[in-house]
Amino acid sequence: MNMHVPGTPRAARRARASQDVLPPSMNIAVIGAGYVGLVTGTCLALLGHRVTVVDRDAERIAMLHRGEMPIHETGLAERIAEAEKLDFSTSLPSAVAAADAVFICVGTPPNPVDGHADLTQVHAVARDVAGALEGRTVVITKSTVPVGTGDEVEEIMRAVRPDGDFAVVSNPEFLREGVAIADFMHPDRVVVGTDEIWARDAMAAIYAVITTAGHPLVFTSRRTAELTKYAANCFLALKITYINEIANLCEEVGADVEDVALGIGLDSRIGAQFLKAGPGFGGSCFPKDMLALMKTAQDAGMPLRSVETAVAVNDARKGEMVRKIIRAAGGSVAGKTIGVLGLTFKGGTDDMRSAASLVILPQLIKAGARIRAYDPAGMANAKALLPGVEMAASALDAANGADLALVLTEWSEFRTLDLKRLRRTLRQPVLVDLRNLYEPAAVAAAGLSHIAIGRPGAAFPHHAGISPQDVPGRWPQAMARKARMPADLARA
Ligand SMILES: NC(=O)c1ccc[n+]([C@@H]2O[C@H](COP(=O)([O-])OP(=O)(O)OC[C@H]3O[C@@H](n4cnc5c(N)ncnc54)[C@H](O)[C@@H]3O)[C@@H](O)[C@H]2O)c1
Repeated sequence: MNMHVPGTPRAARRARASQDVLPPSMNIAVIGAGYVGLVTGTCLALLGHRVTVVDRDAERIAMLHRGEMPIHETGLAERIAEAEKLDFSTSLPSAVAAADAVFICVGTPPNPVDGHADLTQVHAVARDVAGALEGRTVVITKSTVPVGTGDEVEEIMRAVRPDGDFAVVSNPEFLREGVAIADFMHPDRVVVGTDEIWARDAMAAIYAVITTAGHPLVFTSRRTAELTKYAANCFLALKITYINEIANLCEEVGADVEDVALGIGLDSRIGAQFLKAGPGFGGSCFPKDMLALMKTAQDAGMPLRSVETAVAVNDARKGEMVRKIIRAAGGSVAGKTIGVLGLTFKGGTDDMRSAASLVILPQLIKAGARIRAYDPAGMANAKALLPGVEMAASALDAANGADLALVLTEWSEFRTLDLKRLRRTLRQPVLVDLRNLYEPAAVAAAGLSHIAIGRPGAAFPHHAGISPQDVPGRWPQAMARKARMPADLARA
């Protein structure tokens, strides 16, 4: 591994100010105008390159030409408006023919048969790109793809263009939806996998402004870069799974998972991020990437037990959440209305892929609940995926007359909700907070019973007439007894 860490940010700013390190502007084609492609294309244009983002979805491209956003990503519309050298097209051949570099940013969904990444889109783009290449071109796989996909892409392209002057490079993307622009522009690192020196130089030029600002560029082999992406995502998913299990334990022993997370997260060996207990991870990446890595490892005869266990624990968690909600409703949700706050897999996006709501809400409906939901950005996508869920105009509208308010997504606008108004809106004063958005004291002060994740009282049956005021500042005696150390251990 070869790591290129340029000078300090201050030195970089001085150097840039003197204009002597401005990278050459390159012609770039980005294939796929989804969450990754749009952000990649926009940011590369903001870095000074001439970029054409291509998608086969003509309506998506038409929207972009009209200045409308096909996805919700914070700040993206403004940055697209700022990016002067950015264009959108449905014509892959013309964008690729003009390009020095082509970024493949198409989807790699899980194959429903064995969980491996479905590479149909990547393979098809490889063929189309090969057919359209003109002159020396670096072809970059940014889609998350299993180890060895770069070899396949190269083979496919070579079959079409035996004499083509191209290199296939892996450059996995680590951005998070909701903060994608900041993640692209200020990455913890840029990983580039290729053994071709000229391709390394091209990649260094593409990212020159970013690396000159002090963000590390890590050069590896192509296979190493491909595996690095999966290893990173699976590690983060393991962290979430771990803190969720610790949260369960907190509920049993009367500890507070938020404080445990703070206490361990401040340890620099552990790090504070991805230690937020919740309803289990979802989203467009973690679930599918874990399945794909599991499959790669099994095929290699080197199964990853920790990843397999985390997947099983995370799958089971959704059922645990349903049981928790039913307990909070007094043992049954039949005939009851649940006001749901948040549908997307996380705040800041309209992405519904593998969202917890897609598993939890149908189970509640099956158990007899009526669901009224509000999401700041996800309702348009959610409608088709969640038949039977009524959509509301606001968080308070969703909770209006409901027997229980349920927080499923950590949207920042929910954090500032007036809890006293929420209490007045609800028929029963019960708030199930699966994202630990609210401080227990604030919820209690609003007169609401608070069922959170891994917090004192979280396992307490707050239903049917028992309010937090009945147990001020304490967790129940039964819990205290349960948490007491066994006598032999206490003596040791
Ligand atoms: N979404 C994320 O947060 C994220 C983060 C890091 C990596 N990734 C990876 O990036 C890749 C893309 O993810 P995404 O979320 O942007 O997907 P997406 O589904 O939002 O976008 C993919 C786009 O590619 C287009 N497309 C497919 N085939 C095409 C073709 N032949 N020609 C032109 N356009 C074509 C589709 O129409 C779609 O608009 C995946 O491999 C994913 O795992 C995603």
